[in-house]
Amino acid sequence: MIHPIVKYGDPVLESISQPIEEFDGEFQKLVDDMFESMYAAQGVGLAAPQIGISRRVAVIDVTSGKNPEAKIVCANPEILHTEGEQREEEGCLSIPGFRGQVLRPQFVTIRAQDAAGKEFEMRGEGLLARAFCHEIDHLNGTLFIMHLSLLKRDLIKRKIRKLKKAGGW
Ligand code: NI
Repeated sequence: MIHPIVKYGDPVLESISQPIEEFDGEFQKLVDDMFESMYAAQGVGLAAPQIGISRRVAVIDVTSGKNPEAKIVCANPEILHTEGEQREEEGCLSIPGFRGQVLRPQFVTIRAQDAAGKEFEMRGEGLLARAFCHEIDHLNGTLFIMHLSLLKRDLIKRKIRKLKKAGGW
C-alpha cells in the first residue's frame, strides 16, 4: 500500500522514533509499504516517520529499483564508524522542492537489523553513506535543513510558510 509522504511541519518528523521490537508479519507489511511508497515518490530512502509512523526503521535503495539486491532495510540502525567528507546537494521527500549542500562523511559503517530481525553491518560510500546518515537522522527527528546555515534554513522555512498559506504544501 502506498502511503502519502508526511511533509515538513508535521511534529512526527521532529520526534525521536521508538525501537522496533517485533519482527512479525505486521512489521514485514510496514517494510513492504515503505518500499512501495518510496518508489512511488521516486526517492532513494524513506524513514517510517515520513509515513507518519514513529518507529526506528528506514528503507534505502540508491539504484531507485533498478537492482533488487540493492534494497536495504535498516531497523534500529546505528552508526559505528565514519571516514572522510563529502559535500553534495541533498533533498528530502518530506521537504519537496528544496535542496541544500550538506556535509556528510564519505564512508559510513552501520549496524542494523534486517526485516527478519537479523543483525548486520554494512559499509556505504558516497550516496549510500549519505543515505545512511540522512535516514538515521530522520529516526532522531533531524531533517537535512537542520544541517544548513541558519540563513539558508530560515529562507527555506519562510518559503514553506508562504506555500502553506497559499495551500500549496
Ligand atoms: Ni528525508
